[in-house]
Amino acid sequence: MYKIAVLPGDGTGSEVVREGLKVLEAASRKYNFKSETKIFDFGGERYLKTGKTLDNSDIEELKKYSAIYLGAIGHPDVKPGILETGILLKLRFALDQYINLRPIKLYNADFCPLKDKKTEDVDFVVVRENSEGLYKGLGEFKNKGTKDEVAIQISHNTRKGVERCIRYAFEYTRKRNRKKKLTLCGKTNVLTFAWDLWERTFNEVAKEYPDITTDYAHVDATTMWFVKNPEWFDVIVTDNMFGDIITDLAAMIQGGMGIAAGGNINPSGVSMFEPIGGSAPKYTGKNVINPLAAICALGMMLENLKEDKAAKALEDAVIKVVKENLKSLAAGKMGYSTSEVGDLVVKYL
Ligand code: IPM
Ligand code: MN
Repeated sequence: MYKIAVLPGDGTGSEVVREGLKVLEAASRKYNFKSETKIFDFGGERYLKTGKTLDNSDIEELKKYSAIYLGAIGHPDVKPGILETGILLKLRFALDQYINLRPIKLYNADFCPLKDKKTEDVDFVVVRENSEGLYKGLGEFKNKGTKDEVAIQISHNTRKGVERCIRYAFEYTRKRNRKKKLTLCGKTNVLTFAWDLWERTFNEVAKEYPDITTDYAHVDATTMWFVKNPEWFDVIVTDNMFGDIITDLAAMIQGGMGIAAGGNINPSGVSMFEPIGGSAPKYTGKNVINPLAAICALGMMLENLKEDKAAKALEDAVIKVVKENLKSLAAGKMGYSTSEVGDLVVKYL
C-alpha cells in the first residue's frame, strides 16, 4: 500500500494533479497495487489566509509517506520568492532530495522547435544537484541601500554533496544503459573554486566506472549543443543553478513545459515528483492546461516505487496520445481539454 501525499498547490496545479490521480487509479487497478492519497493544501491561497508556508510539523508528517506528488507552486498575489523558498525549496532541502532528475525525451518530432531533429535525437537526462550551490541562500549585503552597496551570493559546494550527486549520475548512466556517456556540465574556466571541486570529484569517481564514457562541457556551450546537436548527450550532471537553467531550454526541445517532468529524489527517503512548469495563472480553471507533464511526473513516481510495468505502460500511453491525438503540446492548443487528455491516457493504458 503506497501512501501518496498530494500537493496540488497553486493555479493549474490542481487541474493537472487531478488528471495524474485519474491515471494513478487506472494504473493501480491494471497493475494490482494499492495506493492511498491524502491532499495537502500548501500553497498561495493558504499562505494568504494564514501567513503559513510550511511548518516543521508539516515536514515531519510528509516523512511518513511513500512519495509526494506536487502540482505547482506560485501565486500572482504573493511576492515572488516567498512560496518558492517557503514551500518548494524547503521541501527539497528538508527532505534531503538531493537529486533533481529531469528526463528530456521528444515523443513527436512535429513538436520540436529544432529543424530536422528526429525523436531519437532528443533523448537525454539531466541530473541536477538539488541541495547546495547558489540555492543554499548564503550571502550578505554590505552598505545596503548606499551607493557603495555590495551584494554577495555564495555558491556552497561540499565534497560530500558533490560526490553523492556525481555517484548517483554514474549509477544512473549505467542503469539507463544507452550510450553510457556521462557529461559534466560546468564552468571550470571561470568558477575556479566550485568547478575545481566538481571536476576533481568527477574524475576520481569516474575511475570506478570504466564502462562509462565521460565528457565535459562548459554550461554556455551546453546550451549551444542542446540546439545544435542534442543527440550528443546521454546523461548530464551539473550543479543546482546550471541545472535549473539548462533544463528550461531542454524542456523546450522536448516539446515544451506541457510535457516536461521532474523528480526530486532522496534515494533513501521520501521523493517528490512534479511537472517542471509553473502554476500558469492565466490558464487556471479553464480546463486547457496540458496535464501530460504531471502525468509523466506520476510515471516517474511509479518507477521510483518500483512499479516498472505500470511506469512503462504509462509512458507508452503518453507517447500514443502525443503521436496520435494532440495537435500541439501547448495550453489551449491541444485540440482536447485537460480532462480529455487525461481520459485518453487512461484509455490507452
Ligand atoms: C524549478 C523552478 C524552481 C527552481 C523555482 C520555482 C524555485 O524553477 O523547479 O526549476 O529554481 O528550482
Ligand atoms: Mn527552473
